[in-house]
Amino acid sequence: MLPLVLTGCAGRHNWLASAGAEAQAVEDLFWVLILGAAVIWSLVIGLAIYAHQTSAPRKEPQARRFIVWGGAALPTLVVGGLLIWGMVILRDITAKEGDLTVRVDGERWWWRVIYDGPDGPFTTANEIRLPQGQTTLFRLTADDVIHSFWVPALGGKMDMIPGRETSLTLTPLEQGNWGGICAEYCGGAHALMRFDTIVMPPDDFRTWLAAEAAPAEVAADDPGWQVFLDEGCGACHTLRGTEAQGPVGPDLTHMASRKRLGAGIYAMTPENLSRWITDTDRMKPEVDMPAYPHLSGAELEALVTFLMSLE
Ligand code: CUA
Repeated sequence: MLPLVLTGCAGRHNWLASAGAEAQAVEDLFWVLILGAAVIWSLVIGLAIYAHQTSAPRKEPQARRFIVWGGAALPTLVVGGLLIWGMVILRDITAKEGDLTVRVDGERWWWRVIYDGPDGPFTTANEIRLPQGQTTLFRLTADDVIHSFWVPALGGKMDMIPGRETSLTLTPLEQGNWGGICAEYCGGAHALMRFDTIVMPPDDFRTWLAAEAAPAEVAADDPGWQVFLDEGCGACHTLRGTEAQGPVGPDLTHMASRKRLGAGIYAMTPENLSRWITDTDRMKPEVDMPAYPHLSGAELEALVTFLMSLE
């Protein structure tokens, strides 16, 4: 019963309330394994108790037949059947030609997400949107340490390993915002390395993809944009279509359209963003971004207003 107790995660992280085809296949297999194991375990224990208590004399041919069927034939059948079933599941959850492809790079401690847009690949971060009912192939890698990409409600987890590429397919069946987490200890902020996975109708997804691929809308005389430039934010962050092309931190081109900041941990509100800029290391211990506590009230307000306009 331990696995049942340890599932712990409820709601949008619940892998036993699957919202995707891959999660459903794995969940079915899980229940058959658990219930089958319980039946076989009870049978073996029952027989052991019976054998211990009975005083009936042993009949050789019967005993041999029992060993052959119960000890060799039955396990071969059960394990062989499960193996075939597992291979069928594996085949079913493999991506096919023409599926949508999304690249995700694990960074310390956030997610770089690369989509194929209408005009070629573009980068975003920390939020993944997927079309309902369609299979997406994830090509996964990592920058410097090993992470693990996991959206429990949608399917299995997969390691992200520096220097090589792994893959995973997800076919979300239910609309919603499903929680994603890093499932491999990767350093100080491992537990704060999260993302939203938003499943939307295919038409809405295409509209979103086109909007997300567009460059940032920046007014040259925006006072917040001036603060952004003066403080050197563009050395780490990219705003597509502007001179800010920093490749180090998350792409901020449409950051205000994301649900959360700090890699899935705080609601995207002006208050949280303001605290994020001035108290970065307290909002997320061991984060690589330095804090900017020296900004004046007016500068901070202008910067936050500017960033919150990047939808
Ligand atoms: Cu990334 Cu744990």
